[in-house]
Amino acid sequence: MKALLCTRYGTPDDLELTDIPDPAPETGQAVVRIKAAALNFFDTLIIAGKYQTRPAFPFSPAAEFAGTVERVGDGVSDFRPGDRVLGYAGYGAARECIAISTERLVRIPDGVNFDHAAGITVTYGTSLHALKDRAALKPGETLAVLGASGGVGLAAVELGKLMGARVIACASSPDKIAFARKHGADDGIDYGKEDLKDALRRVTGGRGADVIYDPVGGAYSEAALRSIAWLGRFLVVGFAAGEIPRLPLNLVLLKGCDVCGVFWGSWIERDKAGHRANTAQLLDWLADGKLSSHVHAVYPLDQAADALKAIAAREVMGKVILRP
Ligand SMILES: NC(=O)c1ccc[n+]([C@@H]2O[C@H](COP(=O)([O-])OP(=O)(O)OC[C@H]3O[C@@H](n4cnc5c(N)ncnc54)[C@H](OP(=O)(O)O)[C@@H]3O)[C@@H](O)[C@H]2O)c1
Repeated sequence: MKALLCTRYGTPDDLELTDIPDPAPETGQAVVRIKAAALNFFDTLIIAGKYQTRPAFPFSPAAEFAGTVERVGDGVSDFRPGDRVLGYAGYGAARECIAISTERLVRIPDGVNFDHAAGITVTYGTSLHALKDRAALKPGETLAVLGASGGVGLAAVELGKLMGARVIACASSPDKIAFARKHGADDGIDYGKEDLKDALRRVTGGRGADVIYDPVGGAYSEAALRSIAWLGRFLVVGFAAGEIPRLPLNLVLLKGCDVCGVFWGSWIERDKAGHRANTAQLLDWLADGKLSSHVHAVYPLDQAADALKAIAAREVMGKVILRP
C-alpha cells in the first residue's frame, strides 16, 4: 500500500510517498481502508518535531480518518468487513490502510459521506469538550471565537450556536468573517483591521464576552482577556500564531474570571465515557445536518505537501482532506 512517511523532522516537502507492506490486524484491531484522512494544524508541527507528540520514525501524519473495515483481528465482534467507520489515531492516517484498535472506531451514520466524517473528531471533539466540559457555556451567554474560520474555530462557532450562545466570530479578513457568519455567527470582528479589545467591548455594549475561545495565541490572547466579562471563562486551546502568550494574572483577579486549559487529546484518554458521550452527540448532530464539517479542499496523497503548506499559510477555512 501507499503511505506518506515522515522519516526525519523537516518541512512538508521532506515527506516521502512510499510503498510499504499492507498491515495485518492484531488481536482487538481492525484494518480500515482509508477513503478520507483529515489534516489539522498540528500536522504542520508534528512533521517538524515541534508538537507535544513525537512518534518514532517513520510515521505518517493525519490524526483522523474515515473508511471501510477490511479485516478484523481475533476477539473483534463489534465490527465486521464492510462497516463504514471513522476513527482517531493521533497520527498515522495518511496512508491507504491502517490497523487500529476497534475501541478507536465509531460507525458513520447513514447519509454522512467519508469526507465529512473524517474531519469531525478532532475539531468538533475539541470544541465541544472546551465549551461544554470546561467553560459550561450557557444559553444566552456571549461566546467570542478567535480564528473563527479555521478548523477548531468554525466548530466552536457552530457548536456555540447549537448551545444557544450569541457568537462573535473574530478573524483576520472580511472573507473569513463572512464565512463564519454563513455558519451561524451573529457578529464579526476583523482583528486584521480593528483592535480586538476595543471591538469586543463595542459589540458587547461594554460588558465583554462571557466565554473566549482562543486557538490562536500571540498578542490576541491578552487583548481578548482584557475584554472578558465578569466571571467569564477564557479557553486556552492553541497557539496557531506561533507565540505562546503570558497573561497578566491581575486581569484574572480584576475580572473574577477563570482561565481554562483545554487538552482534548489527554482528556479522551482520562474520561473515556465522557468522550463516548460527546462523540455520540456530535454524530447525532452531524447526521441531522446541524454541523457542516466544512471541507475547504481535497488533495490526493501525492499532493499532501501542498495541503500542509496551505494550512501553515493561514489559507484554509474549515478542513483539509487527503484522499489516499
Ligand atoms: N487544545 C486542544 O486540545 C487542541 C485540539 C486541536 C487543535 N488545537 C490547536 O488549535 C490551533 C488551531 O488548530 P486548527 O487545526 O483549527 O488550525 P487551522 O484550521 O489552521 O486554524 C487556525 C487559525 O489560526 C489563525 N492564525 C493566526 N495566525 C496564524 C498563523 N501564523 N498560521 C496559521 N494560522 C494562524 C487563522 O485564523 P485568522 O487568519 O483568522 O487569524 C487560522 O484560521 C492549533 O494551535 C492546534 O494545535 C488544540
